Amino acid sequence: MTKNKNNQSVWSSRIKKNKSTLFEKIGSSINIDKRLYKEDINCSLTHVDMLFRQKIISFKVKNKIFFGLNKIKNEITKKKFIFKNRDEDIHMSIERRLHEIIGDDAGFIHSGRSRNDQVVTDLKVWMKESTNQIISYLRSNQKTILQLSEKNIYTIMPGFTHLKNAQPISLCHYLLAYIEIFERDKKRFEYNLKNLNENPLGVAALSGTSFNIDRNYTTKKLNFSKPTNNSIDTVSDRDFVVDFIYASSMCSMHISRLSEELIIWNSDGFKLVKLNDRIVTGSSIMPQKKNPDPLEYLRGQTGIFYGNLVSMLTILKGLPLSYFKDLQDDKKLIFETFDNLKNCLLLTNEVLKNIIFNKKNMLELAEKGFLTATDLADYIVKKHNYPFRKSYNLTAKIVNFCEKNNKSFKDLKINEIKKIDSQLENDILKVFDLNNSISSKKSFGGTSFDNIKKMIKKYKKELR
Ligand code: ARG
Repeated sequence: MTKNKNNQSVWSSRIKKNKSTLFEKIGSSINIDKRLYKEDINCSLTHVDMLFRQKIISFKVKNKIFFGLNKIKNEITKKKFIFKNRDEDIHMSIERRLHEIIGDDAGFIHSGRSRNDQVVTDLKVWMKESTNQIISYLRSNQKTILQLSEKNIYTIMPGFTHLKNAQPISLCHYLLAYIEIFERDKKRFEYNLKNLNENPLGVAALSGTSFNIDRNYTTKKLNFSKPTNNSIDTVSDRDFVVDFIYASSMCSMHISRLSEELIIWNSDGFKLVKLNDRIVTGSSIMPQKKNPDPLEYLRGQTGIFYGNLVSMLTILKGLPLSYFKDLQDDKKLIFETFDNLKNCLLLTNEVLKNIIFNKKNMLELAEKGFLTATDLADYIVKKHNYPFRKSYNLTAKIVNFCEKNNKSFKDLKINEIKKIDSQLENDILKVFDLNNSISSKKSFGGTSFDNIKKMIKKYKKELR
């Protein structure tokens, strides 16, 4: 329990009995929210500055509080500050220490505010910075992907549906898909900044304050874009916490999909990619093994993000307005989510830089499984004006013939094709070429080499 200079708790005049020591221990959040000390002190400095400008406190008191707060900041930064469970949280720790340093004038600091608005202000300030950090990590990953894409414009691989060979694509086109995916993740975090930019400070406990405070001033000073509109909503709202964990969960889910795909491609059955020794782990018993542990780690972490998302949603469900102690755990979830996502994004970047694409195997796999069957069907429609269903059936017959005779499309002779439909002509053989197939996918957003070169240009400009 926070005590003032006379070793009395802040609420000792009202609550006579000592707090349960068990709850003092487990109900304290100091070991988690001490991470907000800089934000807490800066917001307090701004609050006190505003109180002075509004003539709510004197110049002398303002200076004393400034001196005390700066001293505390210094003590914490230099690890000379002693955090005590008794202090409950970072706000009370700092207020307790301020009393020790400057005496009773420390009490002026809490005019016109409450811990309820203080904690959301601190957290929003912290999350704005963290959200911007995440956006920049996403950008770095996009840049890495762009570099890989550029090197693989003419790398041909099978595109899969149902993990079965479907149609030929450029590896570049596949990689660029992840630029789009991470772009959407960035947008989600950018969108979150809008709510994070509303300043909670000054709504006090829940109903506002009778002190003549200036919320526009603190808004400007703390780099928010506007003060929040409703005091009750302000201290109850943790939507921005859910938004952050949701955006992080989506991002992690994307990383997990990428990881899963790379794990499959790296498997001995596929052998489409090799992982550099930097990103594999050995086996304790099987000397030959090089396991894709980092990718498996990334895939697994998604479970932790989803868990945090469900935790926060469940904490909020059924909470009446406005502040309740239940909300205290928001910070634990936010910090864990941020640290985890930051690590995952950094690791993803490292993994991407250490993948070796096995171009030869990719091409070989693309040559199996009649990947140009759709091209063949399209060709017949265009050339002979057959309805698509008729040409689909003809193509299926050609595939059946090949399969029965153990041939690939490339091995087919024109007379064999003519036996299936005598109308079909010699230039049909061109459609079996994988390069031709890819080049022909010119519809906007398709895999044609021309398209992806244009896309690379566009992303280069955007990611500069
Ligand atoms: N440590 C508290 C939290 O993080 C700060 C707000 C406390 N407010 C209160 N009325 N007990 O939620």
